[in-house]
Amino acid sequence: MTYDEARTLFPVLGRKAYLNAGTFGPLARPTLEAVQSEQRSELEHGRFGKAYFERMLAFRIELRAALAGLVGADPAQVALTASTTDGCNIVLAGLGLTAEDEVVTTDEEHFGLLGPLYASGARIVVVPANADAILAAVTARTRLLALSQVLWTTGRALPVLELRERSKIPILVDGAQSVGAIPVDARRLDFLTISGQKWLCGPDSTGALVVTDPERLRVSRPSYFSQASYEPTGRFEPQEGAARFDPNWLAPSALAGLVAALEVAPDWRFERAAEQTLRCRELLARHVEVVSGGATLVSFRLDDPPALVARLAESGVVVRDLPGTGLVRASCGWWTSDDDLERLVAGVSA
Ligand SMILES: Cc1ncc(COP(=O)(O)O)c(C=O)c1O
Repeated sequence: MTYDEARTLFPVLGRKAYLNAGTFGPLARPTLEAVQSEQRSELEHGRFGKAYFERMLAFRIELRAALAGLVGADPAQVALTASTTDGCNIVLAGLGLTAEDEVVTTDEEHFGLLGPLYASGARIVVVPANADAILAAVTARTRLLALSQVLWTTGRALPVLELRERSKIPILVDGAQSVGAIPVDARRLDFLTISGQKWLCGPDSTGALVVTDPERLRVSRPSYFSQASYEPTGRFEPQEGAARFDPNWLAPSALAGLVAALEVAPDWRFERAAEQTLRCRELLARHVEVVSGGATLVSFRLDDPPALVARLAESGVVVRDLPGTGLVRASCGWWTSDDDLERLVAGVSA
């Protein structure tokens, strides 16, 4: 598939300079067709019966395998969630932490990780988002490092594998801004979250959690999918592998949509996204202070971010401001064109 062929699959890109994948990726026509086909079947034939449940289970198997392949994991290490926040909650509740335990995190994390951290009851140690500060905060009480692979504020990447190896402490990696944007390898990470609606361009309320060693995490939020069998007391035999952590019924249409979205992404996705991000930074740096780091988010500083975001929206350029930071954030994907970037820069420099 050439770049031009791929781009025409996303109708919104014909209308807007859509630089918003850090929040929601653009939807492709095959994704919507898969969603609609499933919904139409439910509308016309109902949501019942062997064929319906078997189709739903087949989507779960297919999606688990596709997401595993994307991050170098085994399908048995993948739980299907509705979000990164779901994944963080599953891990933090499952570890059974107490006030005696410490978790090291950074001062640039999203509430999708911070909320579950706080709710865990552990002592949360917040340090600047750099490797030296993170390693220096590790003590004999540290049970977990919990941080983003790519910071949602600036797009800067943290060396998660190096942190895991040097600290020898289990790590929960928030992959919301990394999976689908840059190559990610879950193999030597303990826990990795995935958001389906961002860089994977999937439907809302889709995601995953990769658990390298499922036997070692307690099932703290069981759903019907968690059990292989159960007793009248609710005592249950967990499913094999990470499927035991599946926390929700996910709409079969959403499962089908994410499977389709993963099939749309071309082999050259990461190279092209990196090129366009670099180009975006270079173009913007001629006019404003750019604070972004290594991945596919480009944040830049200006006097009145909400006003700029509103002005850009009027000219069909979609970016967001990051409240309280003075920053505006543009998300560059493999689908981003030179014209999208020129429209952004024209709006910023006007
Ligand atoms: C770094 C990071 N973590 C977590 C989240 C929350 O993601 P989800 O909506 O999939 O829970 C976001 C969303 O913007 C994010 O950027």
